[in-house]
Amino acid sequence: MNEKIEEIKKLESPPKVIKGLYTQKEINEFIELYKSLPIATHNKKQNVIKKRWLQGYNKNLEKLFCDRLKNEIGDFKMDNLQDEKGNDIYGLIQESYAPIGLHVDAGFEPNNQIYKQSLIPLTPVGSTIIFKNRFYGGSTTFTQDPEELKKKNLSYGQNKRSSEHLNLYGDKPFDKEIYNKYLKHEKIDNLKGLEVEYIYQWEVGSMLIFDRTHLHCSSSVIEGKKIGIATFTKK
Ligand SMILES: [Fe+2]
Repeated sequence: MNEKIEEIKKLESPPKVIKGLYTQKEINEFIELYKSLPIATHNKKQNVIKKRWLQGYNKNLEKLFCDRLKNEIGDFKMDNLQDEKGNDIYGLIQESYAPIGLHVDAGFEPNNQIYKQSLIPLTPVGSTIIFKNRFYGGSTTFTQDPEELKKKNLSYGQNKRSSEHLNLYGDKPFDKEIYNKYLKHEKIDNLKGLEVEYIYQWEVGSMLIFDRTHLHCSSSVIEGKKIGIATFTKK
C-alpha cells in the first residue's frame, strides 16, 4: 500500500479532457518524434510496440508538453521510468494493435506521492475506459488468467499481476451494455464490482488527464492500430 495515501486522496479530482490543446502541426511533431525513438519493447503476445520518450530528441516538444501539463495540473514531477543513464524519460509511447487490459498505473515506489497521468492520442480512433474504482497498491495488471498470475520475475517497470481487485469492489455484475460496446476483450467476471467513471473518445489534439489511482483499460475499439503517449507524474 502507498505510504502517502492521505496526501494522494486530497489531490484526487475527476478526469478531465482538454480539447484542442495541440495543433495538427504539433501532433505531427509528436509522430516524427515517435518514429525517431528507438524501440524499447515489442511484445508480440500483447501486440504492442513501446517506446520511451527519451530526453533530447525534440527539446521544443519537451518544453511545450511540460508547460501545458503544468498549466492544467500545477507543479508536478515526472514519475516515468529512467533511462540507462538515470535521466527521467517524458513518458511511454505505445503503438497497440490489440486492446490493453484492466490495470492501474499507481507507481513502483510506495513512498512516492503519485499524482496525475496524461494521455495524448496520436491516431484518431480509440477510446479509454476509466473506472470509478481506485487502487493504492502500486502499478498492477488485474487478471484472473493463472498463467499471468504466475509471473513473479518482473523486469524494471513491469506491472505486478493480481486478482485482488475481485475482493475489493463488491460482487455487482458489470454493466452488460457497456461491456458489449467497449470491453469484449476482457472477461466480464474480471470487471465485477467496477463502475465506469468516464469514457474518453480519442480525439487528435486533445489530452486526457486523470488520477493515477483509477483502474482503467483501453476499449476494444481499434482500427488497425492506435498510438498514444502516456505520462505519469508525482508530487
Ligand atoms: Fe494505463
